[in-house]
Amino acid sequence: MPAQSYVNGRYVLHDSAAVHIEDRGYQFADGVYEVIAIYGGGIVDEKPHMERFFRSLGELNIPPPASARTIAIILREILRRNRITDGALYLQVTRGVAPRNHAHPPDMKPALVVTGRAVRWPQSFAAVQPIAIVGVADERWTRADIKSVSLLPNILARMSADRTGADDAWMIDGAGYVTEGSSSNAWIVSNGDEIITRQLGHSILAGITRQAILKHFGDALKFTERAFTLEEAKGAAEAFQTSTTALVKPVVKIDGSPIGDGKPGGVTKKVFEAYLTHFAAHASAAPSAAPSAAS
Ligand code: PDD
Repeated sequence: MPAQSYVNGRYVLHDSAAVHIEDRGYQFADGVYEVIAIYGGGIVDEKPHMERFFRSLGELNIPPPASARTIAIILREILRRNRITDGALYLQVTRGVAPRNHAHPPDMKPALVVTGRAVRWPQSFAAVQPIAIVGVADERWTRADIKSVSLLPNILARMSADRTGADDAWMIDGAGYVTEGSSSNAWIVSNGDEIITRQLGHSILAGITRQAILKHFGDALKFTERAFTLEEAKGAAEAFQTSTTALVKPVVKIDGSPIGDGKPGGVTKKVFEAYLTHFAAHASAAPSAAPSAAS
């Protein structure tokens, strides 16, 4: 069955799906995106993802391409057409197509693209591959809270990891504190089992996985939202990173130094297992579960 994608009002064969060469996303990275997990046919944490999507659009003054309800229907149609029960959806909105000029014409028509793919989610902590990370300078702009498609510094960070034989990179701000991973939020576990992740602000993306973990497991586990340095991370008992597609991933090495005993830790396992339960429980099937606030 050939894959299908949604491009500006039409469902098209994925292999021949295309946008105009003067789309501002292509020329200026003038757009935003979301990645949402699909589990058992349901859309995981749809509401917070859609809220973040509309917020990112608002911060960049890009008008929503459609109502939240219409987008919710498109997402489900992509899942249906591609027969995805476990997977991930990618949504992207750019400001639209116009002759190349930094200033854009008024009343542009934003462009919406949705793609879907199958993913096999790990069903146990033992199935999760632990990773090694390196620290790199955070070279991004000052609004990392906006989920912009402008990801060049994130890609360069990831390339640094590849060059040194690591799996991923954590970015470090000018004051020496870890902001986040190249495509994830960063966490450490202190020797007293305190789970630490950087506080929200303009320098990190408000991860939906991060939010779910803090919101739903705050009673069972000890969390602190504060900045930490890479040195503190290297001396931590455990470290891990979180994202929609990687869920909760143990970090066992930082800049070549083993973390704790160099194996995935027990607190990380607890967070993984708690998140997996949440993941399964928060997959919504019906479009009525989508946010209705946006017009
Ligand atoms: N990235 N920080 C950054 C820079 C990210 O790119 C991501 C996710 C996260 C975690 O956010 P969430 O838990 O909502 O997925 C944090 C997605 C998965 C991506 O770019 O593919």
